[in-house]
Amino acid sequence: MLIAQISDPHVRPAGQLYQGVVDSNRMFEEAIAHLHGLDRRPDLVLLTGDLVDEGRPDEYAEVRTRLAKLDIPYLVIAGNHDERENFRAAFADHAYLPRTGALHYCVDEHPVRIVALDSCIPGLHHGGVDAEGLAWLQRTLQADRKKPTLLMLHHPPFMSGIPYMDAYRYMDTAPLEAIVRGAGNVERVLCGHVHRTMLRRWAGTVVCSCPSSTTEIALQLKADAAPASYLGRPGCMLHLWDEAHGMVSHVSHIGAMAGPYPFA
Ligand SMILES: [Fe+2]
Repeated sequence: MLIAQISDPHVRPAGQLYQGVVDSNRMFEEAIAHLHGLDRRPDLVLLTGDLVDEGRPDEYAEVRTRLAKLDIPYLVIAGNHDERENFRAAFADHAYLPRTGALHYCVDEHPVRIVALDSCIPGLHHGGVDAEGLAWLQRTLQADRKKPTLLMLHHPPFMSGIPYMDAYRYMDTAPLEAIVRGAGNVERVLCGHVHRTMLRRWAGTVVCSCPSSTTEIALQLKADAAPASYLGRPGCMLHLWDEAHGMVSHVSHIGAMAGPYPFA
């Protein structure tokens, strides 16, 4: 099974630029075209939050217009730039999304079980899950301790070392870590939010953050670094699952490359 991941497209209303300078709508469309152009068609696409920038209905209308061109099944989770109720309304036809409350869900119709945890706290930018959500996760993971499972949530449950991102991190990771560690069959924890690829061993599995299809957060590690982002090489991720070989995660850059050159 090939699972693609697109994150943090930060779509804007038609004709408006992200941060006033970046055409995030066009870049989202390019990310979708990139998936269609891969030499192996993904079986499923995961969109790991910040689908839009300001949580506005006219932004979600743009997201749906562009996603209408995606000819691969997809699942969505919200990020801190999404607005829960506008998000829910925009994806009202997605039956896996709960009708009320936090947007936790489990989709168990593929060779890999997909568990989605809503790490957003309405009105705030940092992440966390309340006791009810954690209890839901524990029950959901306990229900199948064998099938390979992907857990996705917007906020990575670790310190990135980039100070202006860590101010908006998933704050209290210990209860979540205990639940995931107890499961034993979580192949990967997939996140967005930090607009960069990062890896960390965590809770007996691997946490992996996906690049944004739009901008990169500047890689600055000094404690007093000023917040910055830039237009780098946009990307998505491809998670290749095979029962014999496990899960391998690739970054797939979007856009033209030099080459091909002879393989050596
Ligand atoms: Fe984002």
